[in-house]
Formats: sequence, C-alpha cells, structure tokens
Amino acid sequence: MMDIKTVGVIGAGTMGNGIAQVFAQSGFTVRLVDVAPPMLDRARGAIEKSLGKFVEKGKLTAADKDAALGRLRTSTAVDDLADVDFVVEAIVENTDAKRGLFQKLDTITRPGVILSSNTSSISITVLGAATTRPDKVLGMHFMNPVPLMTLVELIRGQATSSESMKVATDLCTKLGKNGVEAADYPGFIANRILMPMLNEAFYAVMEGVGTPEAIDAVMKGGMNHPMGPLTLADFIGLDVCLAILNVLHDGLGDPKYRPCPLLRRMVAAGYLGRKSGQGFYKY
Ligand SMILES: NC(=O)c1ccc[n+]([C@@H]2O[C@H](COP(=O)([O-])OP(=O)(O)OC[C@H]3O[C@@H](n4cnc5c(N)ncnc54)[C@H](O)[C@@H]3O)[C@@H](O)[C@H]2O)c1
Repeated sequence: MMDIKTVGVIGAGTMGNGIAQVFAQSGFTVRLVDVAPPMLDRARGAIEKSLGKFVEKGKLTAADKDAALGRLRTSTAVDDLADVDFVVEAIVENTDAKRGLFQKLDTITRPGVILSSNTSSISITVLGAATTRPDKVLGMHFMNPVPLMTLVELIRGQATSSESMKVATDLCTKLGKNGVEAADYPGFIANRILMPMLNEAFYAVMEGVGTPEAIDAVMKGGMNHPMGPLTLADFIGLDVCLAILNVLHDGLGDPKYRPCPLLRRMVAAGYLGRKSGQGFYKY
C-alpha cells in the first residue's frame, strides 16, 4: 500500500468534520478545508466535543485526544492540499461544484494521489472524467455520524482501478471501518435500497395507512430496525431525502422512485426534519 500519512478533507460540514476526526484519531495528519471560516471553527468545536465523549466513555485517553487535535490543521485555501497523500471531498451535493473542485484538485495534487468523494448520489464516473486520473477517482461514502458508524461504501467508477479500490479498502481498515464495494449506479447500494423504503413510509403517512408514530413502531418493533423510517428521514434531512430520490428517479427512470408528493410539500414548506425543528415530528 502506498504510504498515506497526510489526508486532505474538503468541506467541514456534518460529514467533513466527522471524516477529519476519524482520520486524525487514527494517526493521520489532516488538512481540513472549507470556503467558510465559521464552518472550520464549528468543525473544530464539534471534533473536540466528540473526542471528549470518547474520553468520558473510557474509549480514548485524554493524551490521545490532544494528539488527535494536534494532527488537525484547518484552512480556507484548497491550494494548501498540494502535498497531501489522499483526498476526501465532502462539499455540497452539487455536480458542478464537485466537478470544478475535482478539476482543481487534479492540477494541485501529485499525479499518484487518489481523489475520493463522499457523495451520496453523484456519479463517480462523472467526477473522474473531470480529471486526468479517472483510475484514481472513487467514492468513499461514509455514514452519519461518521465517528460511530462502521460502514463505508466504496464506489468504483467506470475507470477506477482495482489498485485504487484496494488502497481505499485498506484505508478503511486503518480507520477501524468496514469498506464495502458498490458499482457506480444511482444511489449505489445504501440509498438505492434505503430511499425507496423511506419513500414508501412517506406514502403510507400521506394515504393515512398509519400515523408516523404507528409506522415507526411497526418497523422498529416488527422488523427490528433500530430506528423507524420517519425518525430516520427526519434525522437525514427531508431535503436530502428528496434530492436522493430525484437522482434515483432521473437516473433509473422507473416511476417506483417517484418522490412522494407529501415529501415535496413538506420540503417546500421548509419542514426539513430535525435540523429545521419540524419534520414528521417536532423537535
Ligand atoms: N449528511 C449526511 O447524512 C450525509 C451522509 C453521507 C454522505 N453525505 C454527503 O456528504 C457531502 C457533504 O454533506 P454534508 O451533510 O456534510 O453537507 P454540509 O452542508 O453540512 O457541509 C458542506 C460544507 O462544504 C462547504 N463547501 C461548499 N462548497 C465548497 C467548496 N467549493 N470548497 C470548500 N468547501 C465548500 C460548505 O461551506 C459546508 O461547510 C455531500 O456530498 C453529501 O451528499 C451526507
């Protein structure tokens, strides 16, 4: 495995700060970049708090926490990633923004460096095509909250090499995570299967099959899911669910992926779930 010591993470939102944390916790030097300075301050605060919780639970020593924080540097300039050995992109879920960034990363990083994206739904092949190294572009889809969830979906684009996939798989192991390979089709594995189930739960609410409480209770108690589908959708964000369903619907063309009209209406009203204080439940 090529020697990866320094990792660049771009985007310091919900996912980027969690990704930066797990790399720093696992001994990597991390450069976390975001266009918005307040996001970088918030990310450092969130990482400190999360590491503190691990210390409280006795899963991390205070010295290891300080060492992890010491390995983290933040910056607003992508150019600061010129010397990194691996990149994880976690900026907004927008194809043009990500393509532009991959084009830039291709010019500033060393030719052998793997450029990965945490995208939930954008084609890895499309991002690879924006670079001169499509064999070294892959998806590294971490799950939220990153420090606690062990799965990483690894997406192989049309041109991604087996060598690059192996590097990413080994990297997951170093992070204490399990990398599972998926092909580059809309929604990959996780959202291809999860979102239609959540969408069906939205239709069940709309048609009055059950209240949100009843639907969640059936799926929790009856199917042994740790969280009901409507609680989970509120946690993910209803706008995010709608965006992913649109990708599945557009990309696969099957009406079974049509986003539920109730979901569209709630998103239009600004009912985005937990983060907005109102979704299928009030927070
Ligand atoms: N939220 C989830 O549960 C989840 C789960 C898996 C994957 N993802 C994916 O992870 C990515 C990030 O999602 P998030 O929820 O962390 O988003 P977020 O909105 O919390 O954070 C995105 C960050 O990117 C920054 N940013 C935007 N454009 C940038 C640029 N050009 N350069 C540098 N920084 C830039 C923003 O300032 C913001 O801080 C998306 O691709 C999303 O689909 C999200």
